[in-house]
Amino acid sequence: MQHHFADAKQENETDDGDIDSKNVKKSAHVLFAMKEKVGALAEALKVFKKHNITLLHIESRSSKRFQNDYEFIVELSTKDGNIDKALDALRDTTHYMTVISRDHRSGSDTVPWFPSRIKDIDKFANHILSYGSELDSDHPGFKDEVYRARRKYFADIAFNYKYGQTIPRVEYTQQEIETWGTVFSKLTELYPTHACKEHNHIFPLMIENCGYRKDNIPQLEDVSNFLKGTMGIRVNMSVNNFCKGCTGFTLRPVAGLLSSRDFLAGLAFRVFHSTQYIRHSSKPLYTPEPDVCHELLGHAPLFADPSFAKFSQEIGLASLGAPDEYIEKLATCYWFTIEFGLCKQDGQLKAYGAGLLSSFGELQVFKFILRSVVLSDAMFRTMYGNICKIFHAN
Ligand SMILES: [Fe+2]
Repeated sequence: MQHHFADAKQENETDDGDIDSKNVKKSAHVLFAMKEKVGALAEALKVFKKHNITLLHIESRSSKRFQNDYEFIVELSTKDGNIDKALDALRDTTHYMTVISRDHRSGSDTVPWFPSRIKDIDKFANHILSYGSELDSDHPGFKDEVYRARRKYFADIAFNYKYGQTIPRVEYTQQEIETWGTVFSKLTELYPTHACKEHNHIFPLMIENCGYRKDNIPQLEDVSNFLKGTMGIRVNMSVNNFCKGCTGFTLRPVAGLLSSRDFLAGLAFRVFHSTQYIRHSSKPLYTPEPDVCHELLGHAPLFADPSFAKFSQEIGLASLGAPDEYIEKLATCYWFTIEFGLCKQDGQLKAYGAGLLSSFGELQVFKFILRSVVLSDAMFRTMYGNICKIFHAN
């Protein structure tokens, strides 16, 4: 199955929302450092007024680079001013300056732009590398016009979605529900013996609260509210004392393939970019790409586990503003854990990776699949330590 996101080479092909059609910068984030001196900041900021630049946001901190300096991060925007000229002038008055840009290239002196607020995800959520209805010629639904139209319908929902909105509820067709039903029945047979105990602990709650049934595809909005903790959860007696299981994770519909940098940045805010369409009915136990079965059966239950949610978020945090080679390492870490991870519980191999938990064939035989990685406690600590190092290097 494909990744949720593209590799680092492809991600440089994304549009840069900061640049208009005449290649003139219309917004920018800039980090600069100044010596501690009364009025120094006010002096530096005058250049923005002079060049007709609006200051949308400013934050300050004591510099970690230079003793006795302050560092400022500013968000700039303009309609008819000239940001490049303003930055040239600012560079002359500051000790250190760097532009934080989506147009960065590894090795250049810019820092990759990253979201600093959850709402900033709106800025890149539609920077997708392929629209949901564009299928490869070997996709099971390639020649099915009805399926392709359906895929476009789902992609349009995601494309128009903005942070804070309710995820539109979808009326799934009978054929789609039957496809889900086949996957649901097959997988739930295996979960008691093949899934990790955390998945088995949470899954009954999702049946109870989110409409997980053979004859019903759960709505992303309901699952998202469950994970976020805004839903009044009914606690089943068999999984008592689990009220604290909600982790603040939310689902956000996605219209196509994101870059790995953008996908991982979502995790930093406990946002998981999720598809809403379902695989083609001709092959219910196969999908070449993530679909709603993969997201809701594989990923969603583990995001309700506090430790797993924290681990997922830390991969995301480590990715913010990181160089491309770090992004590749973090994407690999994501792949061998969140996507295809195995663990040992009570001496038995169990699956916690969503790619296994949502695939009947792979879940059945995962003990023989060499691409899966079994993490011992020591290996996990090493991997976790590496993530922390990347995080602290930023
Ligand atoms: Fe996945």
